[in-house]
Amino acid sequence: MKHTDLATRGWNDYELLDSGDNKKLERWGSFTAIRPETQAIWKPLHPELWKGADAEFRMEGGKGSWHGKRAPEPWDISWSAGGTDAAVRFSLRLTAFKHTGAFPEQAPNWEWVIERVAACTAHDKAGGSPKVLNLFGYTGIASIAAALAGAQVTHCDASKQSNAWARENAARSEVPEGSIRYLTDDAFKFVQRELRRGAAYDGIILDPPAFGRGAQGEVWHIETDIVPLLEDLHRLLSPAPGAFFLLNGYAAGYAPQSFVQAAESAFGAMDHAEFGELRIEERGGGRVIPSGIYVRFAR
Ligand SMILES: C[S@@+](CC[C@H](N)C(=O)[O-])C[C@H]1O[C@@H](n2cnc3c(N)ncnc32)[C@H](O)[C@@H]1O
Repeated sequence: MKHTDLATRGWNDYELLDSGDNKKLERWGSFTAIRPETQAIWKPLHPELWKGADAEFRMEGGKGSWHGKRAPEPWDISWSAGGTDAAVRFSLRLTAFKHTGAFPEQAPNWEWVIERVAACTAHDKAGGSPKVLNLFGYTGIASIAAALAGAQVTHCDASKQSNAWARENAARSEVPEGSIRYLTDDAFKFVQRELRRGAAYDGIILDPPAFGRGAQGEVWHIETDIVPLLEDLHRLLSPAPGAFFLLNGYAAGYAPQSFVQAAESAFGAMDHAEFGELRIEERGGGRVIPSGIYVRFAR
């Protein structure tokens, strides 16, 4: 079991320019935005940079809204794994929940998924496309990364809007025709149906929220539902060499060790796993914003 904290150092189309006073200043393509950041209890290093921001999300009276929106919505940016030309292109919008449609701290995991899909393909003597399941898939960046690497992806999210946005992003990224199927469904229910069908996946990715609602209003509480879901996923994950599993978490306030032990409750001892924090590093290096946790392994 290896504890490895993963840092996103930004890329051509994304940078964490500064942070502090419970806010962060990010560049998304050619636009900058200020968003609340509860971790950022320190002082900004470059106060001069914040004045020119193109948009700011402010919480007032318990309600949040965007101000001074100068970014043309939607606007496109892209990300590609080191050393590959395959670019994941996706659109950004300033959503009501301060989100933009992408979680940059996931970049090291997008890269890992691409490597794992390639390893699965290498393992498969029949040369078939690895089957990957992405639960709570949101705008589908991990799904696109897996599809561009040659996987047959099942993308499941309870929200029609998220899946529509994910389809748009897949079209922008020119993923191979039919390489991603989209399910607007409750993650739990979908997994149980797949088990009844005797399905098996070579790769499983999930990024559950602390609280969520399924497509028919099913309620998701991470504290009570995560282990039963992991137990089902243990049965859905192929036993074949190269099969991989990635669990992310954010906003639930858990430490990485908690996710490891939850996963061990379902998968048993995971000596070969990696776990830790997902962090975003400020431009110029040094300071980071802790932005999530993960546990992952490959058979
Ligand atoms: C914040 S997003 C996950 C981010 C995503 N993994 C990424 O990196 O882009 C959480 C997603 O979970 C979905 N969701 C919430 N409850 C769900 C449920 N019970 N079943 C399926 N999806 C659910 C939401 O619609 C939302 O798109």
